[in-house]
Amino acid sequence: MIRRIGVLTSGGDAPGMNAAIRSVVRYGVYHNLEVVGILRGYAGLINGDLIHLDHRSVSGIINRGGTILETARCDEFLAEEGQRKAVETLRQNEIDALVVIGGEGTYRGAIQLWNKWHIPCVGVPATIDNDLNGTDITIGADTAINTALEATDKIRDTATSMERVFVVEVMGRDSGFIAIQVALAGGAEEVLVPELSYNLEAMCYDIIEGSRKGKNSWIVIVAEGAAKADRVAEKITEITGLETRVVVLGHIQRGGNPTAQDRILASRLGAAAVDLILNGEFGKAVGVQDGEINVVDLHVAVKQKKPAVEPFYQLIRILS
Ligand code: F6P
Repeated sequence: MIRRIGVLTSGGDAPGMNAAIRSVVRYGVYHNLEVVGILRGYAGLINGDLIHLDHRSVSGIINRGGTILETARCDEFLAEEGQRKAVETLRQNEIDALVVIGGEGTYRGAIQLWNKWHIPCVGVPATIDNDLNGTDITIGADTAINTALEATDKIRDTATSMERVFVVEVMGRDSGFIAIQVALAGGAEEVLVPELSYNLEAMCYDIIEGSRKGKNSWIVIVAEGAAKADRVAEKITEITGLETRVVVLGHIQRGGNPTAQDRILASRLGAAAVDLILNGEFGKAVGVQDGEINVVDLHVAVKQKKPAVEPFYQLIRILS
């Protein structure tokens, strides 16, 4: 019998995490569950940093970026001793099941808790990278794309006015999702992503060819995991002789008010996660596929996602 559930956010924060927390709390309370918030992800679980959450404690957060529970990347939890302490906290506080909100690392933590320590866990996908299976999109990705797009639009204004090449680095150590989406939506001329091989010299000769035809500004979007933006810019200047500037968008992509899409997604998925717990389905993650709630095993969710970058990449090249 599940009476009390815990909720935590872990790993890189993503806009919409607060909306997901709110949904877990209010949907849980609606179903007569007590909800405990765990601070700073798995670190808080190890240290016993818990707060009681009720309907009112999640007022006014649906529109806020970041996470009221705070988050961390916790190396201590990777070791057996850290996990033992975390399990102790859960047992001492009579937390019967746990909702983890986060990305791949967060899910891997939950897999350990469920498989090794038999702690009932369910996952809610929240990462700007959109690199989890079982969902078309993760919470935070839409906001991050729109933030990066807004910045790219502004960069284009100055690129056009001053006839320059801009290399814009977006987030994504292993995932080109943000880069591809921003490149297509922002009308970028070139995009480099970790999933696809590229030839910098060939790209530079394309720029020279475009320049001959009268084109005088370029936006090159680079995912952080594909190449160092500085190196790309140096190469472009070296081969083309064009004036080049670098903009690293960095962590602004993780902040800000979540878009409507992220708030809606988070609200649906938080409730769906509580439904899984109420139905006794553990070791699973929720998602949305083709508009419908979808459920997959946590270990399936963390399998290398085959990103749909290739068709987008071709389209970006044709339209540029
Ligand atoms: O996983 C989300 C993400 O923003 C990645 O895109 C990025 O590579 C990483 O987190 C950055 O992590 P940190 O904030 O720990 O530097």
